[in-house]
Amino acid sequence: MKQDYIAVMDSGLGGLSVLRELRRLLPQERYLYFGDSANAPYGTKTVSEVRRLTLAAAEKLQAQGIKALVVACNTATAAAISDLRAAFPDRIVIGMEPALKPAAEHFPKGRVGVMATPLTLREEKFSALLHRFDDTCRIDPIPAPGLVELVEQGKADSPETLDLMLQILGPYVGKLDALVLGCTHFPFAVRAIRAVLGPEVELLDGGPGTARETKRRLAQAGLLYDGPGELILCNSLPGPEILDLSRKLLE
Ligand code: DGL
Repeated sequence: MKQDYIAVMDSGLGGLSVLRELRRLLPQERYLYFGDSANAPYGTKTVSEVRRLTLAAAEKLQAQGIKALVVACNTATAAAISDLRAAFPDRIVIGMEPALKPAAEHFPKGRVGVMATPLTLREEKFSALLHRFDDTCRIDPIPAPGLVELVEQGKADSPETLDLMLQILGPYVGKLDALVLGCTHFPFAVRAIRAVLGPEVELLDGGPGTARETKRRLAQAGLLYDGPGELILCNSLPGPEILDLSRKLLE
């Protein structure tokens, strides 16, 4: 079987914000996207449950003939990246973590919020990341339960999302230099986030960096593909609606 797809996976539609960056940078590649919307959100589940769901999804993608697996989900990365690397030792496996490093570098002595799912913020990997930078700047972990569900329902740009952002980010207005979007669903809600925090706060999204890292790893392995580009979108929810919404988010 030809191993030429770049598989991109997420608990649902969030990974599309990463796929968007990948297609911008590597338009000639063949992509296979899987969103596990039937099981979203992952961020409020237990680590072992997220690990089981992530490994099951990766097995299915692997069977389609893939050269790389991009885990476009901070939560699944926190729960399962070592298991995925062990399960697929001869594939390129790329995970994501909140973009705290660039935030700390841009704002030494500043104040940086990290908005992510409860699971990501509670995991060991995040504590380690936090301790690497908490001498450099003040870091506020900001859980945002409910936001993933609104994006999944196609309401990223709705009055409900604005209300939720007002509740969650209201206490930080005028206090943050930067906000790290530590969940791939959140870039779809930037309009509401900006409306609350104002234009000065820098928003950091891990998608572009993940796309650059994927390109670097593929180039290093001599696995860059030279077109024509292709995109297959799959979702664990049945019916055309979720795929229609996926296409809309990719525009
Ligand atoms: N998009 C995911 C992330 O980057 C997880 C969202 C969820 O299912 O809770 O963390």
